[in-house]
Parts: sequence; C-alpha cells; structure tokens
Amino acid sequence: MKLTMTITLLFFLTIFNFPFNHGVATTFARTSKPHVLVPSSIGGLLQQRGIRAAYWPSFTGYPASSIDTSYFSHIYYAFVLPSPTTYALDITSDDVEKLLGFANATSAWNPRAKTILSIGGGGGGALPGIFSQMASQVYSRANFINSTIKVARDYNFDGVDLDWEFPSNESDMSNLGLLFKEWREALEYEANITKQARLLLTSAVYYASNVSFDGGPRSYPIQAISQYVDWISPMCFDYHGSWENFTGLHSALYDPYTTLSTDFGIGSWIQAGVPPEKIVMGLPLYGPTWSLENPENNTVGAPTTGTGPGSGLLVYSQVVDFNKENNATIVFDNTRISYYSYAGDSWVSFDDIGSIKHKVRYARTRALGGYFFWALGQDLDWAISKTASKAWLT
Ligand SMILES: *[C@@H]1O[C@H](CO)[C@@H](O)[C@H](O)[C@H]1NC(C)=O
Ligand SMILES: *[C@@H]1O[C@H](CO)[C@@H](O)[C@H](O)[C@H]1NC(C)=O
Ligand SMILES: *[C@@H]1O[C@H](CO)[C@@H](O)[C@H](O)[C@H]1NC(C)=O
Ligand SMILES: *[C@@H]1O[C@H](CO)[C@@H](O)[C@H](O)[C@H]1NC(C)=O
Ligand SMILES: *[C@@H]1O[C@H](CO)[C@@H](O)[C@H](O)[C@H]1NC(C)=O
Ligand SMILES: *[C@@H]1O[C@H](CO)[C@@H](O)[C@H](O)[C@H]1NC(C)=O
Ligand SMILES: *[C@@H]1O[C@H](CO)[C@@H](O)[C@H](O)[C@H]1NC(C)=O
Ligand SMILES: *[C@@H]1O[C@H](CO)[C@@H](O)[C@H](O)[C@H]1NC(C)=O
Repeated sequence: MKLTMTITLLFFLTIFNFPFNHGVATTFARTSKPHVLVPSSIGGLLQQRGIRAAYWPSFTGYPASSIDTSYFSHIYYAFVLPSPTTYALDITSDDVEKLLGFANATSAWNPRAKTILSIGGGGGGALPGIFSQMASQVYSRANFINSTIKVARDYNFDGVDLDWEFPSNESDMSNLGLLFKEWREALEYEANITKQARLLLTSAVYYASNVSFDGGPRSYPIQAISQYVDWISPMCFDYHGSWENFTGLHSALYDPYTTLSTDFGIGSWIQAGVPPEKIVMGLPLYGPTWSLENPENNTVGAPTTGTGPGSGLLVYSQVVDFNKENNATIVFDNTRISYYSYAGDSWVSFDDIGSIKHKVRYARTRALGGYFFWALGQDLDWAISKTASKAWLT
C-alpha cells in the first residue's frame, strides 16, 4: 500500500502541474459565474440520507480501521496544519504515516464513507494568527489552496475542511469569504482539468453566526458561505466548562436565560441567510466535569471549586463508567435537553441517547443538512452513533 501511495504521489508531481497562481486566480475571479456553482442542489441531494459525520482524531491512537461506517456518511481526518511561513500544508513524516494508514483503512471500509481532510483545529496558540496571515493575501491563499488540493488528492480524500478557531475581527471574516470563493473556484477548476469529482469544501464554525468573545463583535461571511461552501459545521458544544465556577450544560439545545444554546446558534445561522441544508449541527461525545463547592447543591448553576473527574473532561464511554462505578444520580434536564450526573462532589454534563435523539429530530425538523460528532473513539459500542443515525434515517 505504501508503494501504491508513493506511485500516486509521483504521478501527481509529474502530470499534475496545477497552474494555479496569482494571474490564474484573478482570471477565475473575473470569469466564473457564481450562479452556475449549484450551491444548494448538492445539499438537496445529500439531505435525503443526511450528512452523518464524525471527526477522527489522528492523535489519540484510535484506529481508523475500527470505525463502523454503517453509521456515518462522512469521516473527517483531524488534523493537518499549514506552515507558518509558506502557508502550504506542513505534512511531516508523522503526518505521512498517519495519512497513509488512514487511506489504507478507508479502502477496507464497507460502506465506504466519504473522507474529508480537516485543516486546523482548536486549542488556540499560534494557529488562528497563521490562518489570519494566510487569508490576508491572494498569493498566500493560493499557496494554501493549491497545497490542500494536492494533499487531499495524494491521500484519496473526497473533500477539504477548514477548522479556524476563530477569525478574530471583521477583516479576518472578510478574508475568510475571499478564501472560500477562491478555494471553491480552484476546486471546480481542478475537477475540470483532472476529470474527477470535485472535492467538497466544508468548514467547522462557531456555534453562532456572530462571534464576540476575545475581541470585538464580528460576523461570518454569510454570502460567501452560502455560495461557495458545501456546508458549515457549527460546533454546538463547549457552552460551559470547568473554566467557570458554576455548573452548566455544555451542549444545551435550549437555554431559558442565555443565548448559549444550540437552538440560538442554529437559529442565528438560518436568520443570517445560510440555507438550512448547508448547516450540519455539532454533537458532542464528551462532557466537562466540575467539583461542587457543596455536594448538596447540585443543580445547573451550582457553585464549583474546580475541575472534576478526568481533569475536567470525560468522553462518553468514561461518563457511562463514572455513573455506574459511583452510582451517580443521572438527571435529564427536559428544559435544556441535555443530561448531567453527580456523585459526591463530582458533577458531569453530557449527552446520552435521549438528548441525542431529540437533537437529531430537531435537526430534521429545521431541515438541516445533518449532524457531526466530535469525536470518534469516544462512544460506547456505537450506542450514540447508532441512535443518531437511526433518528435521522427514520
Ligand atoms: C501548485 O502546485 C503545483 C504542484 O502540485 C506546483 O507545480 C505549482 O507551482 C503550485 N502553485 C502555487 C501557486 O503554489
Ligand atoms: C492496511 O490495512 C490492512 C487491513 O485493511 C491492514 O492489515 C494493514 O496492516 C494496513 N497497512 C498499513 C500500512 O497500515
Ligand atoms: C485582525 O486580527 C488579526 C489576527 O489577530 C490581526 O493580525 C489583524 O491586524 C487584525 N486586523 C484588524 C483590522 O484589526
Ligand atoms: C468547468 O467546466 C465547465 C464545463 O466544461 C465550465 O462551464 C466551467 O466554467 C468550468 N469551471 C472552471 C472553474 O473552470
Ligand atoms: C465566580 O467567579 C466570578 C468571576 O469570575 C466571581 O465574581 C464570583 O464571585 C465567583 N463565585 C464564587 C462562588 O466563587
Ligand atoms: C449578528 O450581527 C449582525 C451585524 O451586526 C446583526 O445584524 C445580526 O442581527 C446579528 N445576529 C444575531 C443573531 O445577533
Ligand atoms: C446553590 O447555589 C446557588 C448559587 O450560588 C444559590 O443561589 C443557592 O441558594 C444554593 N442552594 C443551596 C440549596 O445551597
Ligand atoms: C445508589 O443510589 C440510590 C439513590 O440514588 C440509592 O437508593 C442506592 O441505595 C444506591 N446504591 C448503592 C449500591 O450505593
């Protein structure tokens, strides 16, 4: 398999002299007709079976060959990073090994879920600034775009995904719009000249269409998203965490008192003008934990003193173990549509079968494109993945 990949790589270097440069990019910009880019018919076709996606973290050791693809239509490879100097993807030898292993695993999948190469990821650090720089100039955007296509084709992906957490001001947001436009045009062009199916273009985004933390208020480029991106994936989680000194549900569908809810976030995207079928709703397979200040005070909003089990985070399978081992009290919050549990001074926010089913039905009712999970390897015997897939398809 390694040999085949090397040959594919050489093949690309030899024949795929992709003439994407500044001059060509501006030509695309002048001659392309946005109205023939069929933004919503693709979404319309996908809608029938839904985008039932999940991210595969390449860094946890969970094998891609273990993914049961009967529950998923799309699997994201997370993540690769751009170089801080050239803005081309920086594919290290470690990345090469993981990408080859992933490509190999996918060839044995049945059914063969589509795969999308995700670029970026959370965690802050230098990455948001590198994306900001990359997106700010036409040549660095071109270099980045060109390299994403090359890497995606070399490793047999069906699409590319941007996970920029997060654009920090209005100029980042408008540059992001230019990036989406030029990226989509390059993908169309490459598909034309190589006579292959066009690579998908998707992006993980903040749960709501406006962002106001860490800087001034700024709005995502709705026009460019609607026109050039196949779908966006709002990250409908992390509303609360152990950085706060009170308990909270980190992925509440509704919230009676604040705008920190999935319903608010999804509503903001629709209200801003993104076609619902281009919205793929985030679902968590993990939850934050706290230590209660007073074990007797264990409701949502109760005072806390710090992180709980798992240093502040448990994945779903660990939540199930925690609840069992500690005979925890499990509460379904039927206003917010999410679960919490507590035992002694430990408090955990999580989603389970009931809330996942409710959220997927919500996504259906709002005619969204689908849902995605963060992340593979965190479920318990596919219980949540199976629930979601069934709730979508029936
Ligand atoms: C794009 O990539 C090809 C190789 O795949 C390379 O020959 C070309 O110079 C690149 N163009 C830019 C603008 O980076
Ligand atoms: C490729 O996948 C097969 C199973 O599909 C596995 O046995 C083999 O070890 C894999 N090779 C690599 C290099 O990952
Ligand atoms: C926007 O944010 C980026 C990244 O932090 C920064 O480099 C840039 O100077 C900012 N632009 C404006 C106009 O504030
Ligand atoms: C791709 O090909 C179609 C039909 O051949 C053409 O109409 C379209 O303009 C091409 N798009 C690009 C970006 O080259
Ligand atoms: C929680 O933190 C806020 C500010 O971060 C502070 O004003 C408040 O007093 C704290 N509450 C408790 C119970 O420690
Ligand atoms: C987002 O910001 C825009 C521009 O300021 C504003 O028109 C819109 O109402 C805001 N949307 C929400 C949901 O707050
Ligand atoms: C629980 O904590 C909240 C918030 O500090 C407080 O308002 C409430 O009175 C406490 N309830 C009990 C039973 O201690
Ligand atoms: C588990 O907790 C329930 C109350 O939530 C209690 O009735 C039961 O005795 C507990 N069982 C054990 C084994 O601690």
